[in-house]
Amino acid sequence: MTLISTIATNLIFITLFITTVTSQSYSNHTVGDSAGWLFNSDTNTTSADYTKWASTQVFNLGDYLIFNTTTNHTVVHTYNETTYNSCNTEDASDTDTFVYQGENVFDKPLIIQVPLTIEGTNYFLSDANDGVQCEQNMKFEIDVKHGNGLPSYLNQPPPPPYVEPPLSTGSNPSMIPGQGETFYNSSFRDGGNVPLGVLIVTFVLGFLLLMP
Ligand SMILES: *[C@@H]1O[C@H](CO)[C@@H](O)[C@H](O)[C@H]1NC(C)=O
Ligand SMILES: *[C@@H]1O[C@H](CO)[C@@H](O)[C@H](O)[C@H]1NC(C)=O
Ligand SMILES: *[C@@H]1O[C@H](CO)[C@@H](O)[C@H](O)[C@H]1NC(C)=O
Ligand SMILES: *[C@@H]1O[C@H](CO)[C@@H](O)[C@H](O)[C@H]1NC(C)=O
Ligand SMILES: *[C@@H]1O[C@H](CO)[C@@H](O)[C@H](O)[C@H]1NC(C)=O
Ligand SMILES: *[C@@H]1O[C@H](CO)[C@@H](O)[C@H](O)[C@H]1NC(C)=O
Repeated sequence: MTLISTIATNLIFITLFITTVTSQSYSNHTVGDSAGWLFNSDTNTTSADYTKWASTQVFNLGDYLIFNTTTNHTVVHTYNETTYNSCNTEDASDTDTFVYQGENVFDKPLIIQVPLTIEGTNYFLSDANDGVQCEQNMKFEIDVKHGNGLPSYLNQPPPPPYVEPPLSTGSNPSMIPGQGETFYNSSFRDGGNVPLGVLIVTFVLGFLLLMP
């Protein structure tokens, strides 16, 4: 192999590597597509079949649901099947059920954006009109897949508990155990399944082949 072709091979792998890392993308799903998230209280019908709509989508962690709606409706996001089936949020716990709604004025356009941050079954409903909207099928459930995982901007775990620093025993303060390890982990963890091994092997092979 010539020097040029070795460099070219490495460049191809580097490009693949960068593409793998930066192509992680997240989708926005407009609920009901152009029909939006609306209920007609004269006919008791929803503007779309939301269960059918959901079956056309693939949902992943980090995606958003965009509800194009008005202040006549709410968006209830729950992980609790009982709450979902009852169409009633009165007894719901605020650890598994989240209510999004606009100001207390009717017929104002409203866009509600809900990030998907927990894998598995997620339920959505509108509990407006004392639950009638939900009872008339203004609700749907989805299965959220892992996909590329939760992006760091949606992943905000509580800070770790305060730990008392160890008492100085005269050892070199710059040699704090585990610090190098932490740096290594944090610099590679976000990449997911990074083909680092492939990259290293390519470089090593490239340099071996360069040797006379
Ligand atoms: C999806 O919606 C979020 C929240 O509004 C926004 O920050 C992001 O830019 C949108 N992404 C796309 C691809 O439209
Ligand atoms: C929301 O729906 C209305 C019609 O109901 C439409 O005019 C508007 O463009 C939609 N907005 C978005 C962000 O999809
Ligand atoms: C919104 O709700 C109010 C109060 O129930 C009602 O008078 C109005 O007709 C509703 N708007 C639509 C578009 O259904
Ligand atoms: C679901 O919510 C109800 C209250 O509406 C509560 O009694 C029940 O324990 C919850 N279920 C789970 C699995 O947390
Ligand atoms: C709509 O459905 C509810 C039950 O969910 C019923 O009580 C109400 O009378 C219905 N309204 C119309 C206009 O059909
Ligand atoms: C670094 O990652 C490895 C495996 O992913 C883990 O076992 C180790 O505890 C991590 N170290 C630190 C300091 O986070």
